[in-house]
Amino acid sequence: ENDIIDQLPLRGKKVLITAGPTYEAIDPVRFIGNHSSGKMGFEIAKASANLGAEVILVSGPTHQKVNHSLIHVIPVTSAQEMYDATHLHFKDVDIAILSAAVADYKPKYAASQKIKKKETTLTLELEKTKDILASLGEIKTKQYLVGFALETNNELENAKAKLKKKNLNLIVLNSLNDKGAGFKKETNKVTLIDAEDKVTEYELKSKADVAKDILNVIIKEVHA
Ligand code: CTP
Ligand code: CA
Repeated sequence: ENDIIDQLPLRGKKVLITAGPTYEAIDPVRFIGNHSSGKMGFEIAKASANLGAEVILVSGPTHQKVNHSLIHVIPVTSAQEMYDATHLHFKDVDIAILSAAVADYKPKYAASQKIKKKETTLTLELEKTKDILASLGEIKTKQYLVGFALETNNELENAKAKLKKKNLNLIVLNSLNDKGAGFKKETNKVTLIDAEDKVTEYELKSKADVAKDILNVIIKEVHA
């Protein structure tokens, strides 16, 4: 009996995941985006479902594909759409893992017609998007909330500050400095930091294996 429970440690749990980039419209044919492939988030979704969880995967534009009866994909484009979809489901979930590379700024005014080429320079006014992760940290009750951090300097210090500021249970620090880790790559090197300041550094490995490492820590803490 216990063996079966241990094989599917997330059975009966609902997991909300964000993945991929967001696109912020400049005009009907142009946007501000980033190079996130969505791979890490999709691997976390697959690993969660394989452990028995019911998964809601809110994904920005990606080429990733998934076909699993326990994974429900909600495609979104902009940071605001990702915010809305995420908030719609957050109250019902046990675990939320926000791996999306959300745009920090968006054009203040998206032009309704294609912007014509005119002067030598063009200035776009940008405004901040809503921080989805921080907004969930403010309203969370029972949910175990996981964020990501991408840093190029003072990595540990900055990641710890993000964990506290956004009221997270766990933060996944992505080491972009290491060869073979990060955006568009098949591999990743991460350091996990929990709310008790426990720091665990992992080796460079496939994103599928990184996903398993992250879920192992979450399962231990959720069941503790
Ligand atoms: N995040 C989010 N909504 C945003 C921006 C970020 O939900 N508008 C989430 C990301 O999904 C990630 C975490 O916040 O889980 C950290 O993202 P990161 O870009 O590393 O940090 P920021 O808080 O945006 O700060 P900065 O980019 O200035 O380092
Ligand atoms: Ca950011």
